[in-house]
Amino acid sequence: MTYLSQTNPDVKWQWDSINTSGIHFPSNFAWGTATAAHQVEGNNTNNNWYEWERSVDDGGISRIHNNDRSGLAADHWNRYPEDIILMKDLGVSHYRFSVEWSRIEPEKGRYDLEALAHYRRMCEALVEADITPVVTLHHFTHPTWFEEMGAFEKEENTDHFVGFSELVFNELRDLVPMWCTFNEPSVFVAQGYFNGIFPPGKKDPILAGTVLENMLNAHVRTYHQLKSIPGSDGNKIGLVKNIFQFDPYRRWHVLDWAFSKILNDVYTNAPLEFLKTGESSFYMPGMVDNKMSNELAVGTLDFIGLNYYSRMHVKGQLNAVEPFVFDTRDQDIMTDMGYPLYAEGFHRALKTISRMDVPIYVTENGLADDGDSVRPLFIKRYLYALNQALRERIDVRGYFYWSLMDNFEWAEGYSMKFGLYEVDLETQDRRLREGSLPFVEMVNKRGADERGYLVNVGDMAPDLTMEYVTGETVRLQDLRGKVVVLQFTASWCSVCRQEMPHLEKDVWQAYKDKGVVLIGVDRDEPLETVLKFQDDIGTTYPLALDPGANIFGLFADKNAGVTRNVVIDQDGRIVFLTRLFEEKEYQEMLKKIGSLL
Ligand code: FCB
Repeated sequence: MTYLSQTNPDVKWQWDSINTSGIHFPSNFAWGTATAAHQVEGNNTNNNWYEWERSVDDGGISRIHNNDRSGLAADHWNRYPEDIILMKDLGVSHYRFSVEWSRIEPEKGRYDLEALAHYRRMCEALVEADITPVVTLHHFTHPTWFEEMGAFEKEENTDHFVGFSELVFNELRDLVPMWCTFNEPSVFVAQGYFNGIFPPGKKDPILAGTVLENMLNAHVRTYHQLKSIPGSDGNKIGLVKNIFQFDPYRRWHVLDWAFSKILNDVYTNAPLEFLKTGESSFYMPGMVDNKMSNELAVGTLDFIGLNYYSRMHVKGQLNAVEPFVFDTRDQDIMTDMGYPLYAEGFHRALKTISRMDVPIYVTENGLADDGDSVRPLFIKRYLYALNQALRERIDVRGYFYWSLMDNFEWAEGYSMKFGLYEVDLETQDRRLREGSLPFVEMVNKRGADERGYLVNVGDMAPDLTMEYVTGETVRLQDLRGKVVVLQFTASWCSVCRQEMPHLEKDVWQAYKDKGVVLIGVDRDEPLETVLKFQDDIGTTYPLALDPGANIFGLFADKNAGVTRNVVIDQDGRIVFLTRLFEEKEYQEMLKKIGSLL
């Protein structure tokens, strides 16, 4: 246990010493909000959830907290034009929503073209407002007739989903560049077939395994079907994966570790592995043992969506019926959903999902907080964690906040307040919550500062490894104890050429034996060009290559220019930033370097 505990330390950051506001996102980063049809539209009376909201359990109790029913929800079906204005007010550029299959295909094989036209009008209105629509084809709901056929319990039923998807795709693809086939198959399956708290309310681990496999295969089929349509290359198709980490409640307890591992494998690792390699298996002792194999799964993600909220703490127990339970820890800051604020886990999840090697979009992240007291802290910490991932060059392209407005939170009914906008269910008035402001501020900060920098003085420099023109490599972290000056340069840059002889004399020759390392980082040029450049200019300080300007992109917006110098102190902290070769700034930089020695 000590070994496990030490090799997998509980990831906790020292928030007291972290400045969450000093962050910037790239200017082309996609900011959006998300909703799902059944949760916001209202009057969805022909799907699996409508039935579920009217049913009771064995004890005669409603399946939904407080006997709530989705009812009119946020009346988004009718109020979408004003909701688009609310999005504009936030400053976001993307909107993720789902189309309601039961409206489009109310009876098997009969399509309601007016419902389809409604979604088309909504997409047109979004595009008109300069907001990119992102469509989810299945977000927990499907028509009653499909549920009655056994839904995804039967592989042959997949045809209906593929047919529906194709219809919607053809109708909307000229307006919608991004498509999500399924929202959170693991959640749908865990809640509907394992815990029994979503429809169809079954508790059958073997069936749960089958449904998961069928849904993943349905994704694969849908992907290929949509991509076979001529002209669909530009439409990106992916799947939305929820990650909750399962961590041991007692770090010294073998059962807690064992069940955490099993749950992470079943819930996250196996589905991801399947989508990546076409093969995987999952196993829960005495419950389910399943192998999945489909070579067509490989390459069916143009992107992956990540929904991240929090983690769970797992307690194993010697009880055949209930071998594990979830527990919460007193020291955690809790959200209304009963799970903790854990931004470190968001960073962990981004790392996990980066294994898929495809662009990542955070398709949902947010919290329920009726009191609106935790929301600002949540937003600041989670966005900071997201920013860290970007700095580590994890390929995250966008972030969708869950949710635009309060809505019907499935089995929790209307008690959970996830909205950036509060919705008065009586009047349908919407009001921006004060706690949402950190999100609005970040969205409107938009990218780099005036000089194109993504970093600030006072930040720790990101860790990176560079290759010198000599073929040797150097890791920035290994230079701790020295003052490092990174000069971003390029052979075509005349200001760089002007500055370099000065750097050679004032920094390199003056301080190279006194604990200063000066490295010229050449922006995205081949080795021969850089060698010739060095020769031309006659400088002797080392030059490193930067293919794709990826190192540059850690410090500045990739579209911003060179020359610029980043001075990093002996502890790895950025202490000075220059842009262009400006006499006064240059002198100040020399003074700064001198003062560090
Ligand atoms: C996710 C669902 C979404 C919403 C949030 C809070 O699991 O995708 O519909 O309910 O949780």
